[in-house]
Amino acid sequence: MDSALDWHTARALLEWQVELGATEAILDAPVNRFDLPKAEPAAVTPKTKDGRPVAPPPPVDRAEPDAVEIARHAAQQCGSLEALQAALAAYEHCALKQGAKSLVFCDGHPGAKLMIIGEAPGRDEDREGKPFVGRAGQLLDRMLGAIGMDRRSDDPAKAVYITNVMPWRPPQNRDPEPKEIAMMLPFLQRHVALVKPDVLILMGNTSCQAGLGQRGILKLRGHWAEAFGRPAMPMTHPAYLLRQPLAKREAWADLLAIRARLNGA
Ligand code: URA
Repeated sequence: MDSALDWHTARALLEWQVELGATEAILDAPVNRFDLPKAEPAAVTPKTKDGRPVAPPPPVDRAEPDAVEIARHAAQQCGSLEALQAALAAYEHCALKQGAKSLVFCDGHPGAKLMIIGEAPGRDEDREGKPFVGRAGQLLDRMLGAIGMDRRSDDPAKAVYITNVMPWRPPQNRDPEPKEIAMMLPFLQRHVALVKPDVLILMGNTSCQAGLGQRGILKLRGHWAEAFGRPAMPMTHPAYLLRQPLAKREAWADLLAIRARLNGA
């Protein structure tokens, strides 16, 4: 059923009502509690032929499944981007999926030499199912245009491929948690291995956390690093540049370094 509320908001409202003392959920039809079925007869302990009680079954192992291991196993099986998208759609261990409308997988051309890894979808991306389509995405398109790149192009010299660390929108656009990033890491590694870009851009702290295992984008930016076995340039996120326009000067220097690397300099 489609609801005006997202999953996280609906859950928060329900928890609030329980805190206020609500103990009953009113049903569409009334229930006569005096007319409930009679109690089940007491269970009879099963006996062996010679009258001894049958040993109870061994306890069920209720340990939490290892979400990262399951992700690693699922990602390893994927021989194509379509298979990887399907594996993500089938992955049930990340709570962000519950609250998201879309699985935001990628945009652009899979044969591109340049691959951008952003953070996570926001509201616009969740609605449209594509990465970087909101205000930050529009700025990103202008930045790419300034070095002759275009996510709509299928000319390998101009083409760009875009994805995010997280394919599901975090509630209220909060930062993804370390355990959520860890679950997505095997999928991201496989994603990069399938696209095989010449150059990666790590957009912002979450992307640097995933690719380099460290945060601190203002120190990392502008310095070539290696992520997933590829040359990677950490850059400040376009959402940051919208708030801090003076930082665009440094972002421009980073874009020129990327252009030169793509040109083989
Ligand atoms: N910010 C991101 O990091 N990714 C998006 O897709 C949108 C905004």
